[in-house]
Amino acid sequence: MQTVLVTGASSGIGKAYAYAFAKRGDHIILTARRKEVLEQVAEDITKQFHTTCTVIVQDLSDDDAAITLVKEIEKQGLQVDILVNNAGFATKGLLSHSDFAKQQRELAVNIKAVTELTYLLIDKMAERKKGTVINLASAAAFNPVPYNAVYSATKAYVLSFSQSIAYEYKDKGVYVLAVCPQATDTHFFDEFNKMEGRMRQPDDVVRSTFRAMKKRKTICTDGKMCYLQALMPHFLSRKMCVRITGRVGKAVWGNT
Ligand SMILES: NC(=O)c1ccc[n+]([C@@H]2O[C@H](COP(=O)([O-])OP(=O)(O)OC[C@H]3O[C@@H](n4cnc5c(N)ncnc54)[C@H](OP(=O)(O)O)[C@@H]3O)[C@@H](O)[C@H]2O)c1
Repeated sequence: MQTVLVTGASSGIGKAYAYAFAKRGDHIILTARRKEVLEQVAEDITKQFHTTCTVIVQDLSDDDAAITLVKEIEKQGLQVDILVNNAGFATKGLLSHSDFAKQQRELAVNIKAVTELTYLLIDKMAERKKGTVINLASAAAFNPVPYNAVYSATKAYVLSFSQSIAYEYKDKGVYVLAVCPQATDTHFFDEFNKMEGRMRQPDDVVRSTFRAMKKRKTICTDGKMCYLQALMPHFLSRKMCVRITGRVGKAVWGNT
């Protein structure tokens, strides 16, 4: 049995990871902001899989959120074997028309918390010569996406960061995977126009993740559209890629 820390475990893809790891018999540390929802998830997981869950409420956009969360985990005598940096969200629209404070929180959750949690936990994994870090990037990580500029840049960061540390830690027994889902049917899209066509389901993302983990891949693309987006920069100029993503971006994310 391993202990898995899942951020953003109250909903969508994070919740699906929590169930999937629990099904394997792992102990899950569920974290997000909504206490009651996390407690419901924990209760249901315990009932279904007879594993234990620990709920820790933490707003990852708070200053020192990662330090506070890791201190609480240590206080409870737990050690993290698998870190799933899943919490994240997007702002949309013309850069200067989207809420400034929300963009600051987006940077804090999508970049700062991912980096700091990894920093604070990866050394102990390396000492034990065993550990896994799964970072949720996105199909949007492969190309700039106008009208989704901050979000796509945060995910490009997550992808780049993950690939670098995957290389740095591979001889130290720590496996790092960047997961890049395409449009997936979760609360992520509550404030946006849904993508046309069939969306992926959170369980699809989890299945692709587990397949990628088996093959020790560094990048996991989920869905054909994501695969194409990852290939685009290899065949088209960056200018052409931005023209394409700009058109799609305006339809999905453009509010002005
Ligand atoms: N859905 C997609 O199409 C898609 C595609 C590519 C990548 N992704 C990535 O997949 C990850 C999961 O997203 P999702 O689709 O499952 O969205 P979701 O259903 O909206 O879930 C987002 C999770 O993040 C948590 N969260 C948000 N802000 C937080 C904060 N300040 N502090 C702590 N937790 C916070 C939320 O919990 P609380 O509200 O309880 O805090 C929730 O559990 C994200 O990183 C997202 O960027 C999603």
